[in-house]
Amino acid sequence: MINDIKKISVSEDKIQSILTRLGNQITKDYKDKEPLFIGLLKGCNPFMVDLMKHINLYCTLDYLDVSSYAGTKSTGNVRINHDLNTNVEGKDIIVIDDILDTGRTLLAVVSLLKARGAKSVKLCVLLDKPEGRVAAIEADYVGDLVPNEFVVGYGLDYNEKYRNLPYIGVLKEEVYSK
Ligand code: PRP
Repeated sequence: MINDIKKISVSEDKIQSILTRLGNQITKDYKDKEPLFIGLLKGCNPFMVDLMKHINLYCTLDYLDVSSYAGTKSTGNVRINHDLNTNVEGKDIIVIDDILDTGRTLLAVVSLLKARGAKSVKLCVLLDKPEGRVAAIEADYVGDLVPNEFVVGYGLDYNEKYRNLPYIGVLKEEVYSK
C-alpha cells in the first residue's frame, strides 16, 4: 500500500502536534461547557478518536453518516445514511471531519443541526483545501491546509482504501489514472 504514495503531505509527527494544539484550544474554548462531538463517517476516524484524547472536558460523542448532493443551489441538501442517536436540541456541538473541500457536506450538516435546535455548531477539520471551496463555509478549528492534490490516509480514502495510513500522503497519479 505505501508504495502507492508519492510523498508525505502531513507526517505522523505533524499530526501529533495538530492534535495537541486543537485539543488544547477546544479545551480552553469550551471550559464551562459540555460539548457534543459529532463525527462524520467514515472520514472522521481516526482523527476524532485521537483528538478526543487531547480534550480535557466532560463531553459526549456521536456519529453521523451523510452524503451531500448538488441541487440547483447545492447547499443544505443532505441524505442521511446513518442518523445520530442523540437529541441535539440545546447542545453545543463540534462537528469533526477529515477534510473541508467544496464545503457542501459541512454546510448541509450545519443546517441540519441548526434546524434540529442545536444551540451552537462549530466545525473542526484535520485538513482544509481552500482551493476546492464552492459553498460559503469555513471551519473554526483547522489542523493544516492542503493544496489541490489527491490526498489519502489517516481517514481519507481513495475507493475506500488507504484510510489506515498513519499519515496524510499524496497518491501517485498512476494509481488513480488506471
Ligand atoms: C468526504 C470527507 C468529507 C467530505 C468533504 O466524505 O470525509 O466529509 O467528503 O467534501 P466536501 O467539502 O466537498 O463536501 P465522503 O462523502 O467521501 O465520505 P467518507 O467520509 O466516507 O470518505
